[in-house]
Amino acid sequence: MSYELLTGLSLITIGLSGILILSGLVLIKLGKREWHRRAMLTASILALLFLVFYGIKYFSYPPKPYEGPMKGLYLFVLISHSILAAINLPLAVVTVFFGLTGRLEKHRKVAPYTAGVWIYVAITGWLIYAFLSIG
Ligand code: HEM
Repeated sequence: MSYELLTGLSLITIGLSGILILSGLVLIKLGKREWHRRAMLTASILALLFLVFYGIKYFSYPPKPYEGPMKGLYLFVLISHSILAAINLPLAVVTVFFGLTGRLEKHRKVAPYTAGVWIYVAITGWLIYAFLSIG
């Protein structure tokens, strides 16, 4: 797969995943539990697909350096994105597990952090792409 195709697929999967997390939050606030479950599980599948595309790209192409004027800001976004993306994986597993097994008190405790981290990772994923395209 070409670099451009992998980049496009990564952006689409992580972006849709973030939008579905936001939708899932709205749905649970509206009391739509079944739709909340569907939105969050679809978001999780898209995030797994993102990991596949990202993995293929990581092992097939060298990383693209940022050569623009905002190096400090870029590095802050890149490093915070990478750390939180790694944290997001166990958080997501635990949150989905508590949701699916009906441990709702625990689910409600951890889920807001998961949702926040997830959305940050999705937005900064797009930001990194924007930095590399402009810079
Ligand atoms: C990444 C995945 C998920 C995230 C980020 C997430 C997020 C949340 C959040 C923030 C709440 C609390 C809403 C509030 O207190 O107003 C909530 C509640 C809930 N979630 Fe999830 N959720 C996820 C996956 C799931 C899954 C897979 C299920 C499966 C059934 C589920 C079932 C529920 C239920 C039933 C509630 C209501 C709990 C209650 O009323 O006490 N969630 N979720």
